[in-house]
Amino acid sequence: MSAAQLPEGTPTQLLIGGEWRDASSGSTITVVNPATGAALASVADASVADGAAALDAAVAAQESWAAKPPRERGEILRRAWELTIARRDELARIITLEMGKPLAESLGEVAYGAEFLRWFSEEAVRIDGRYTLSPDGRSRLLVLHRPVGPSLFITPWNFPLAMATRKIAPALAAGCTSVLKPASQTPLTALAFAAILLEAGVPAGVVNVIPTSQAGAVTGPLITDDRLRKLSFTGSTPTGKRLIRDSADQVLRVSMELGGNAPFIVFEDADVDAAVEGALVAKLRNGGEACVAANRMLVHERVAEEFSRKLIARMAGYVQGDGLDAEVTIGPLIDEATRAKVSGLVDEAVSEGATIALGGAAPADTAGYFYPPTVLTGVPQHARILSEEIFGPVAPIVTFADESEAIRLANASEYGLVAFAYTRDLNRALRLAERLETGMFGLNTGLVSNPAAPFGGVKQSGLGREGGAEGICEFLETVYVGIADPLAS
Ligand code: SIN
Repeated sequence: MSAAQLPEGTPTQLLIGGEWRDASSGSTITVVNPATGAALASVADASVADGAAALDAAVAAQESWAAKPPRERGEILRRAWELTIARRDELARIITLEMGKPLAESLGEVAYGAEFLRWFSEEAVRIDGRYTLSPDGRSRLLVLHRPVGPSLFITPWNFPLAMATRKIAPALAAGCTSVLKPASQTPLTALAFAAILLEAGVPAGVVNVIPTSQAGAVTGPLITDDRLRKLSFTGSTPTGKRLIRDSADQVLRVSMELGGNAPFIVFEDADVDAAVEGALVAKLRNGGEACVAANRMLVHERVAEEFSRKLIARMAGYVQGDGLDAEVTIGPLIDEATRAKVSGLVDEAVSEGATIALGGAAPADTAGYFYPPTVLTGVPQHARILSEEIFGPVAPIVTFADESEAIRLANASEYGLVAFAYTRDLNRALRLAERLETGMFGLNTGLVSNPAAPFGGVKQSGLGREGGAEGICEFLETVYVGIADPLAS
């Protein structure tokens, strides 16, 4: 295996009904290594007919998968977890090659993504119901849960394994079959994971994987097909809104994990060194290409100089390059369009009065899509970079004078996915938890992502939760049975 090669046997075909096949049109997608701009592999490019075949397969498998005892479903998931961990090096290499993050981070994603399999293997046997007496004592109320049915998953390129396992694992645990459409930039990880699922014992048709370059044309007919019962999407808010509209005609259950604009608030009483370390995680994990990435550094004016100085020093120490190199700590962005967007936001902020304290310009002499760790100070509150999701390694710093201003600035966004804050004042921390308009809150930490916790946002950051005890509920229908008083007859 040469330096930039995929592990031998990495699948490149569609998985439909348990069979690996080429696209019916014979078309392929060229997957590019974002660190070099070079072609990495050709992957089958699903057509509209392939999409339909994948849904047919999921529908055909639904009844038998739902009938499988929960313990058996859980054991298959457990085997998938074991195999994913056993193949961590291969999977991490594929992630780095097609997505660009450094190998150490790819290994972190494998551990994170695999944990959804283990978590939901344990949840499969805890799907509960209840039998109660009605308040007037004259009847009984039986509440039970059953799988929602065939589901469509549309996943992004930034966490090509974890975003797939976060949807597939709870679906499998609940007894749902699925069609996965991974991002066209990163289909190889999803296909390698699908091979693991087959090996773990997932029956034919239960999970189908259809990379495609024609996302709308292929998924559109599935979303309006009345056999599909659930759509789960992770990606941008504009695309999520369109999918919600498309889902309305057949009142599909939807889960939407959409954009973010996370505030990272540093109060005057914070441990500044800890806040800097947390900021590095919140900002530079995944090179900033995460919906939970800190998008706005809101720093109390009394500690702003110290925080900025220390953050700049630490961000300047990152080594950017090809994620396969052991010394590299930050990789490229995914593609030229993403780099152009990041660079445009920075240039615009500067024209609005911000100062570049670190980075701020893409290297001219590299083939990959690199953009350096960048810190902007003196960013005016109206700058577009504070209202748009940056999705890159840029930290704009804004100062505030007191807690109420910090909360006002933090909530001044249509997004509400996650907020982070550093403070040693317990009452303040609790006030923030109650007042910040967010689905998740990181208190004295720059990382909230955890398979055992409900991940998701409020406002235009989405609908529903993934992970935690809540994650499986997204794949269950609630059925209530009213029963006449059995003691009366
Ligand atoms: C995302 O960026 O979409 C997910 C990030 C995470 O799970 O931490």
